[in-house]
Amino acid sequence: MNSADPGIDTIGAEHRLSGKVAVVTGASRGIGEACARVLDAAGARVVLTGRTTSDLQRVAAGLRHDPVVVTADLAPAGAGTDLARRILDQVDRVDVLVNNAGIPMRRTPAQLTEADLDLVFSINVRSLAMLSIALAPSMIAGGGGSVINISSVAGVHGPLGRVAYAGTKGAVDAMTRALAADWGPQGIRVNSVAPGLIATAIWEEARSTVPGLIEDLAGQIALKRWGLSDDVADVVLFFASDASRYVTGETLVVDGGMARVAASSSPPALPELET
Ligand SMILES: NC(=O)c1ccc[n+]([C@@H]2O[C@H](COP(=O)([O-])OP(=O)(O)OC[C@H]3O[C@@H](n4cnc5c(N)ncnc54)[C@H](OP(=O)(O)O)[C@@H]3O)[C@@H](O)[C@H]2O)c1
Repeated sequence: MNSADPGIDTIGAEHRLSGKVAVVTGASRGIGEACARVLDAAGARVVLTGRTTSDLQRVAAGLRHDPVVVTADLAPAGAGTDLARRILDQVDRVDVLVNNAGIPMRRTPAQLTEADLDLVFSINVRSLAMLSIALAPSMIAGGGGSVINISSVAGVHGPLGRVAYAGTKGAVDAMTRALAADWGPQGIRVNSVAPGLIATAIWEEARSTVPGLIEDLAGQIALKRWGLSDDVADVVLFFASDASRYVTGETLVVDGGMARVAASSSPPALPELET
């Protein structure tokens, strides 16, 4: 075992990220925190970003490969480009970008305002695109890279009361395919991961306002449990690493089979087949 990297020899060779720099947005908790931990365990130096410095520092304190904290709010105009500049002030290369920061937006169509739409699109879409575009030259200079966008099953299906949120996540998957086409010749792969129901702080409001929701939803999942942040982070590691070297422009749903249950329960039950 390499004494400097006690966890790395448990990771398959194709998943190792030694010498790579990985940026994770929204790294202060939930899925982003899990991604930061998994990428660090694979040997990457992780740049953690989010709005709350103390939370980012708490996560960074548990990492072993000289992590960097860059505090930033991704809502204002210009935030994605500005964050890229501040990241490149601190590290000399970027190989992996995990665009994870995002906010939910639960509103009926009648409740939805233009300000709501502007806010959720500014964080979930605009900054994601501009940060990616501003970091791409660094990846190209290093011979290529991997961008992983965290979208959602909400962008694939039509969830009630999620017009704006679903719109942002559908946009993320569409941009994933378009950027993969643009950047493929320069060696940058772009994929998205679409989580289903993952137990994080993002569900706290729904848990308190809709009694029984959490338990009801678990029954609709083939694997009969909510996902954990690590369930998503392990798929992110696959896309970050050489194990996915011939995969780009794809969206991988990580939902415990929830979409399959929904699809198989919609048609009327078939009669028994006669043999
Ligand atoms: N949990 C699920 O069930 C689920 C399902 C599908 C998709 N997703 C997606 O997965 C991603 C992570 O979700 P999560 O459940 O881990 O959420 P979470 O626990 O609420 O974490 C969100 C992260 O984004 C950061 N963030 C929020 N607003 C920001 C802003 N304006 N500027 C910069 N950073 C900001 C937060 O840090 P600060 O508050 O400190 O800024 C935090 O680190 C999101 O894109 C979400 O849409 C989640």
